Amino acid sequence: MKPDLKIKNKVFDFRNPTVLPSGFYGEKFEEMQEIYNYGAGAVTLKSIGPREKKGHPHPIIAKTEHGFLNAVGLPSPGYKNMEELWQKMSKRKFPLIASIYGTTINEFAEVAEFVASKKPEIIELNISCPNVEKFGMPFGCDSKIAAQITEKVKNVSGKIPVMPKLTPQANDIAGIAKACEEAGADALTAINSVGPGMKLDLKTGKPLLSFKKGGYTGAAIKPIAVRCIYDVFDATEIPILGVGGVSNGKDAVELMMAGASAVGVGSVTYTRGKQCFSEITKEIEDWMIQNNVKKLDEIIGKAHK
Ligand code: DHB
Repeated sequence: MKPDLKIKNKVFDFRNPTVLPSGFYGEKFEEMQEIYNYGAGAVTLKSIGPREKKGHPHPIIAKTEHGFLNAVGLPSPGYKNMEELWQKMSKRKFPLIASIYGTTINEFAEVAEFVASKKPEIIELNISCPNVEKFGMPFGCDSKIAAQITEKVKNVSGKIPVMPKLTPQANDIAGIAKACEEAGADALTAINSVGPGMKLDLKTGKPLLSFKKGGYTGAAIKPIAVRCIYDVFDATEIPILGVGGVSNGKDAVELMMAGASAVGVGSVTYTRGKQCFSEITKEIEDWMIQNNVKKLDEIIGKAHK
């Protein structure tokens, strides 16, 4: 019998565990549909903000030896200016995660209330962006603020599950995770990009990114993701979307063993191509066959047993 690749728990109901994380392919319906057609189990929109915001000037992305640095600057049309997207999304046939951000706790609730009315499968809270001043990552490093955002969003999001996205920069990611769970979080995403890091242009001696510093993603951050997922799984009972450094099926299995129920596939789409969603799903399946694993529940959190 073929192994069962479906993921079904209180929050995730996906045909396979590969998920497009936020930020890699914008906020258009067509981009999300395309990634689903390439085999993703679910897709996440680029974070939606409280009002129109321009991103940083180019260059916003730099390739490094083992990953990417990016500082896009959370550009958004603003939640009030996305009617066309929501109209198209209302007819979608795929699970949608809507990532949101605010520059204050109240703004998170304002955006969440509107976005919840559009009925995505999950609302993800970006409390962990490293590339903005005064909001973003500092929210995700403070358990009180992370909990307050979660609680306020839960109060206005009705039945839509809420999933804060954690930063690896927190001193105590398990403590932040627990605070979010106690505030009502239904699931958690671990992790957002690492750093920020920097890359210099040796010709000019200057930073390559216009914002100088940027979040680090890609293969190099996998061990940090595995450790963070491991710590979050230990501290909480809610499902984890594990994100960070997955390049192939074995990486996905490793994040699941650490405690992830589903896994992000992001930076690797830039090197392997978008078809890697179905390829990685097949690699997970091959690994399961070789190791006599019938369903993913047998490996989720195995590192803790
Ligand atoms: C951006 C936001 C993020 O949450 C992240 O991890 C990387 C980049 C951004 O828009 O700059």
